[in-house]
Amino acid sequence: MASGLRQSIRRRGQVQGDAVHEEPLLLSVLEGALPFTRQLCRLLGRGVESFDRIKLSSYGDGTVSQGRVEVVRDMREDPRGRRVVILEDIVDTGRTLAFLRKRLFDRGAASVEIYTLLDKPSRRVVEVPLTSVGFEIPDQFVLGFGLDVAGKYRDLPYIGIFEESVAARELKEG
Ligand code: IMP
Repeated sequence: MASGLRQSIRRRGQVQGDAVHEEPLLLSVLEGALPFTRQLCRLLGRGVESFDRIKLSSYGDGTVSQGRVEVVRDMREDPRGRRVVILEDIVDTGRTLAFLRKRLFDRGAASVEIYTLLDKPSRRVVEVPLTSVGFEIPDQFVLGFGLDVAGKYRDLPYIGIFEESVAARELKEG
């Protein structure tokens, strides 16, 4: 998977237009995609020249998507004419990435690719084209390796399944 990913991201895009930058602009979706992004950047080595991040919110503090996506902190780079490679932790209903993809095209991106570590296809509400999926998982809420529940468990060095009863006990104990 690793070398495939590297080749795929380094691939020169066949994008239209004159003023197209072929060097991908990696766009990490905060906060969840940071560990995945770090590992990918390590893989890409010196191949990463353009990097940016955006913070979106759709979940609030719960485990059920609110259905409305908001930009909490916008990206700094101008996506106009760029080949944008989104790095995401997990695709669930698809709303977040459909929103981000449309926003990038509205702002003039030449192409948008989506690389996600995890995908829950059975939860999809909005179709969104994925360029690369690390692992497909069933309909379970997961945490760790960047994924959180109400801001907790992001730092776990592994990905686990969220069990409400265990979490409730832990939260009570502090
Ligand atoms: P979507 O808009 O429903 O596809 O949700 C995407 C976002 O919801 C992701 O970027 C995550 O922040 C969050 N999310 C979805 N499923 C999970 C999960 O199982 N654990 C933690 N966060 C999740």
